[in-house]
Amino acid sequence: MTQSVRVRAPGKVNLYLAVGAREPDGYHPLATVFQAVDVYEDVTATRSDRLELVLTGRGSDLPVDDTNLAIRAARLLAAHAGVEPRAHLAIHKRVPVAGGMAGGSADAAGTLVALDRLWGLRLPPVTLRQLAAQLGADVPFCLMGGTAMGTSRGDVLTPVLARGHYTWLVITQRSGLSTPRVFRAFDDAATRRHVPPPAVDARFLRALAEGDTMFVGMNARNDLAAPALSLHSGAQQVAEACAHLALPTIVSGSGPTIMVLCESDEAAHSLGAYICEHTGAEDAFVAHGPVPGAHVVDET
Ligand code: C5P
Repeated sequence: MTQSVRVRAPGKVNLYLAVGAREPDGYHPLATVFQAVDVYEDVTATRSDRLELVLTGRGSDLPVDDTNLAIRAARLLAAHAGVEPRAHLAIHKRVPVAGGMAGGSADAAGTLVALDRLWGLRLPPVTLRQLAAQLGADVPFCLMGGTAMGTSRGDVLTPVLARGHYTWLVITQRSGLSTPRVFRAFDDAATRRHVPPPAVDARFLRALAEGDTMFVGMNARNDLAAPALSLHSGAQQVAEACAHLALPTIVSGSGPTIMVLCESDEAAHSLGAYICEHTGAEDAFVAHGPVPGAHVVDET
């Protein structure tokens, strides 16, 4: 019987994020391109007589009660499978908290994969995807990984052909942003203009397929960037510093994390040192994509 399972679940960046007008249920239709990056949450699930969660690393002070998405994932999976939700979950966190890189969603995706194995459920991937979608719009992508287009709420996924490797400088902030708050700021600005149905530009998809990483970096789009920057002076400062260097930036998801596509790890490290010295950024580190979705790396 399996005693312990370790899973790696990646964080994500949105290379493209077109947002449509708010719908009556409060959600927004999206057309987005996700890329999974090698910033991992390590989820270790071990046999236990009760459900418990311990966090280490970035965000180790986050609540570990029933509001935590990993606990919700465990309870949802157990209820679906008709088993008792018993496991010790230890999550080592590396994805910035409330940074627009889906750290909480990666925890949930990693927990689903780990407990599916620990409890011997072997659910079909489609079932895990359906459970993931109930937990949050980004959770299905953290399961899938790679590069994918997300439509509807961002949870209806289609893999996209993407050649090439991307080296990102990821610039984090001390304080995060609440996703609903950023969408509300988007809504406030949207009342003053017509918001067309969201779509990913065909030239952008072609550049991804051809491995034209330069085009992708120069033409990344995020409709949440302006509202996110308007709510976060630190992120705004980073965006301005990069603009002075004529470097295009991508706000990741609902921010405030900012990404810059770099030619090499060395170029990224030296830009990171400059940005940390000249702005109030918390940290800057190098990440690469695309990488696979949540997967088992160790089992005893
Ligand atoms: O699905 P998730 O819990 O990650 O979404 C967090 C919040 O982000 C939602 O409560 C909603 O306010 C906003 N959201 C949205 N439209 C989407 C996805 C998220 O308005 N497609």
